Amino acid sequence: MSFEKLRLGVNIDHVATLRNARGEHYPDPVRAALMAVEAGADGITAHLREDRRHIRDADIAALKRGLTVPLNFEMAATDEMVAIALATGPHAACLVPEKREERTTEGGLDIVGGRDHLGPRIRALAAAGIRVSLFVEPEPAVMEAARALGAPVVELHTGSYCEAAVAGDAARVAHQLARIARAAEHGAGLGLEIHAGHGLTVDSVGPVAALPQIRELNIGHALIADSIFVGLAQAVRDMRAAMDRARRA
Ligand code: PXP
Repeated sequence: MSFEKLRLGVNIDHVATLRNARGEHYPDPVRAALMAVEAGADGITAHLREDRRHIRDADIAALKRGLTVPLNFEMAATDEMVAIALATGPHAACLVPEKREERTTEGGLDIVGGRDHLGPRIRALAAAGIRVSLFVEPEPAVMEAARALGAPVVELHTGSYCEAAVAGDAARVAHQLARIARAAEHGAGLGLEIHAGHGLTVDSVGPVAALPQIRELNIGHALIADSIFVGLAQAVRDMRAAMDRARRA
């Protein structure tokens, strides 16, 4: 298998979190997105949550107008979000589970139980030319279910791997990485394009970036956090370099 360049999608949700914390109009997520692209991001990801806690409708419209790279619209599989996606026309839509009480997207989609709910929405987005991905747990059976639903892309949830890495639990890290590797291999074998993300930092990204089937990583919180210390452009360059190093090794 050839090691194609791994794309970096920068999630700018938490620029909006900071803006909204003070009810101000700055920092501007679009300005951050343009800076991230300048520094090496291949795409921009933004999650319009039902409660609009960070990204707002106007941000999605402004990102669509201002970006020259792909916009990945993260969304719950609801009629409201499908309508916004169809009106906006992003390059991609990533369907995620969403719970009001969660601080961040806590697990993958239940695509086995949610088949009847997801199928029509995936088809509506795909018919509009939007590339649909499903944010899922890294399990072979889930890859099969995603394939059966007709989604061309899955994004593997790396949260459990990252939690193990932060805890410094080597056995758990190895177990979670093996899960991701197995799912990536199985999914790619079924013809799915494999993405990954959630919780990745410049320290934990390497082993995931090294998996040859993975084509894109979506990373947000750690980049915005690092940007406090080194600036956003440098944070993106550092992440890009860590990914590229792992890919080459
Ligand atoms: N991918 C998906 C589908 C997500 O929901 C999130 C979190 O919004 C991310 C990637 C990025 O996660 P993090 O902000 O922890 O890097």
